[in-house]
Amino acid sequence: MAISIKSEKEIELMRESCRLLAMMHEELKKDIKPGISTKDINDHAEEIIASYGCVSNFLNYNGYPASICTSVNDEVVHGIPKKERILKEGDIISIDAGLIYKGYHSDAARTYAVGAIAPEHEKLIEVTKQSFFEGIKYARAGYHLHDISNAIDAYVSKFGYGIVRALVGHGIGTSMHEDPQIPNYRQWRRGPKLKPGMTLAIEPMINLGTPVVCFLDDDWTVVSEDGSYSAHYENTVLITDKEPEILTLLQGGTDV
Ligand code: MF3
Ligand code: CO
Repeated sequence: MAISIKSEKEIELMRESCRLLAMMHEELKKDIKPGISTKDINDHAEEIIASYGCVSNFLNYNGYPASICTSVNDEVVHGIPKKERILKEGDIISIDAGLIYKGYHSDAARTYAVGAIAPEHEKLIEVTKQSFFEGIKYARAGYHLHDISNAIDAYVSKFGYGIVRALVGHGIGTSMHEDPQIPNYRQWRRGPKLKPGMTLAIEPMINLGTPVVCFLDDDWTVVSEDGSYSAHYENTVLITDKEPEILTLLQGGTDV
């Protein structure tokens, strides 16, 4: 499948889908405190998405049973919210969420500290986020897709962390997952040329230890094989002739 190029009209719809998602992340961030369950966060997300008149693109995706993913500590991605999973001081949690606005999908993830956490985990979260910004230095027309992958890898590798290979970023638009796949690790080919109007979900998933992951028996939750903590950071990005537009960050929001 070719990589879709969005028209100006479609870009406007992507912008709105992503702006709403960014607003929701700002709300959910305030929930992250010891004592809350991951199910409480999911239920809050459902309320917010409904209040926007949108729907979650995660719910029922290949049978996924919730509206967001909440991945705690050694869980890399796709953690299923549960009322028994209560956050406690020292945990780290990634909230991965998306929604559909007038047929257009958004997708973004953040990793947060629950109260005070170990300095090594603070650093993991920070480096994972920064690796996204290192990658998007190449997210503009004229560069190639794998310039992004290589920049993420070059940055993360300096810290000796494990870059997850089993899961990758993706194009996004009228489906949550479109071409191309976007690896977060070094590629030998440069990949397709980036063009204005491409919308990409770029999402490094980084482990403190081994990059190897396994699935839990729930068939969804991806965990690091060695039990080391894992962080995830994702935004939906628009390729332009100039700087990329990070559609799921709010101007003046707390994440910029
Ligand atoms: N947001 C995830 C991604 O970045 C997809 C979640 S799939 C779900 O590709 F089924 F868990 F929702
Ligand atoms: Co994604």
